Parts: sequence; C-alpha cells; structure tokens
Amino acid sequence: MRSSPRILMCPPDHYGIEYEINPWMSRSMASVRDLAFKQWRELRDTLLGLGVKIEEMTPQPGLPDLVFTANAGLMFRDRFFSSRFMHEVRAKESPFFDAWFQQHDFKVIHWPEGMYHEGAGDALFCGEALFAGYRTRSDALAQQWIAEQVGVRVLPLELVNPRFYHLDTCFCPLAAGEAIWHPEAFDAYGRRVIEAHVPKLLAVHEEEANRFGCNAVVVGKSVIHNSRCPRLAEDLEKHGYRSIAVELDEFLKAGGSAKCLTLRIDGEEAAAW
Ligand code: ARG
Repeated sequence: MRSSPRILMCPPDHYGIEYEINPWMSRSMASVRDLAFKQWRELRDTLLGLGVKIEEMTPQPGLPDLVFTANAGLMFRDRFFSSRFMHEVRAKESPFFDAWFQQHDFKVIHWPEGMYHEGAGDALFCGEALFAGYRTRSDALAQQWIAEQVGVRVLPLELVNPRFYHLDTCFCPLAAGEAIWHPEAFDAYGRRVIEAHVPKLLAVHEEEANRFGCNAVVVGKSVIHNSRCPRLAEDLEKHGYRSIAVELDEFLKAGGSAKCLTLRIDGEEAAAW
C-alpha cells in the first residue's frame, strides 16, 4: 500500500480571467471571487476528507492561473520536471513552482529550450505507459524527451479539438488499464491507441465533457469531478467507483476543473511507479 496521497494546490487569491489563451476564456466573463474561493475550498476539504495531505502554495499577484497546479510540471518519484509553458503569461509561474519543489527536496529538472510541455496537464501515467497529449500546449518532441528521461513508454496522442487543449481535459486514468475519456477529443489514430492500451474505458458524452467531467481527481476508488455530470456519476458507480461532485464552474471560465487545480506529488493513482 502506498503512503497517504499528497497533492499540491494554490488558493485562488489572485485567480481571474485576465487574458485569453484557450477557447473557454473570455475577459468579459469575470470570475466571482467569493464563489471561486468557496468552490476551491470545497475541493480542498473533500480531498482532506479522503485522507489526502494537501500542500498549499503561496498565491502570487499577477499570476491568475497559478491555481492550476497540474500544469506546474510532471512528477516522477523524487524528480519534478518543470513545465515549459507555451504562453508567456503562464511561463512566469515556473520560478514559483521551481522554488516550492526545491524547498521540498525534489530534484528540479527543466525541459531543454525550444520544447514546450505543460506537465501533468498533458502527460498522464496509466499502468506502464505515459499517455502524452501534444499539439496545442506540448510538443511531441517534448513528450519523447520525457519518455527517455524516465524510461517509460510514451503513447503520443494528438489533441485535435481546441476545447480539449490539454490531455487532462479529455482523458483521466482511474487505475492501470482503466480510464475515463471523451473520444471526440482525439482523431481516429488516437482513439485506436487508447482503445488498444486501456481495456476498460468509460466514455464521457459531449454535454458532460463540456463540463470537464473528464478533468477528475482520483483518490483510491473515489473520483472527484465537476457537478452536473449525472451520466458520468452513474457510470463510475457501476464500475465500482464512488463519484463525488464538487461544483467548480468558476474555474471552468478559465478552462479548468478539479484535476487542473491539483498536482499529485506522490504519483498518480494509476501510475505504476
Ligand atoms: N487558463 C489555464 C490555461 O489555459 C487553464 C489551465 C487548466 N489546466 C489543465 N491542467 N488543464 O493554461
């Protein structure tokens, strides 16, 4: 049995829609501060209730997306591979993430210059493989590079739908050989790769995928996802999982939900390491 799960989060003190870098973001749809806080706290408290150790980063003015810690980088044992963000507005977050990981005794490693990679937003371990999204935010080359570093087989998946711009918006490993996904976010090749490597797949339909149902946090047999995803909730229960809905609509305005607001430091539930 692994020790208690450990997750990094960042409170939404400075969260807001201040620029537009994905199709969900519109500066005219400002987030409501109190509501964002309430929703973020409910997510944190739900995780605490499941026995998760929550680490909180210090929020920074001028970095509204720092709340999305999934994009800080990719964890592999004691190594933290620090993201190289595609957009300059988010690249400014990296020094804060690096400092946190350094202070907490992780080995901080950077992708070589000229490659982009947005961490656990685009690379998810499931069993023996690393499922790797590319095109919008991370490059295929950066996915090959990480595969060599950690010695894990990488399965590159092109993200063809701009609304599902990070892999964690349309694919979520539950356990080795088991995942939630939104098939329409991939091309025929990507769908075949996923079907060939993940025997048990729960498809999330358009309406709930648009509520970021796939952007879920898995802790043991509990799956925390955005509210109003009843079909997903039912499917999860049918497959032996406990579905926990937490309304996170304030974060949907930035193109994020439960999973984006967390970074599992001790290794994703479905990771073999
Ligand atoms: N506004 C952020 C961005 O566009 C949202 C990030 C969501 N994170 C995620 N892991 N999908 O970068």
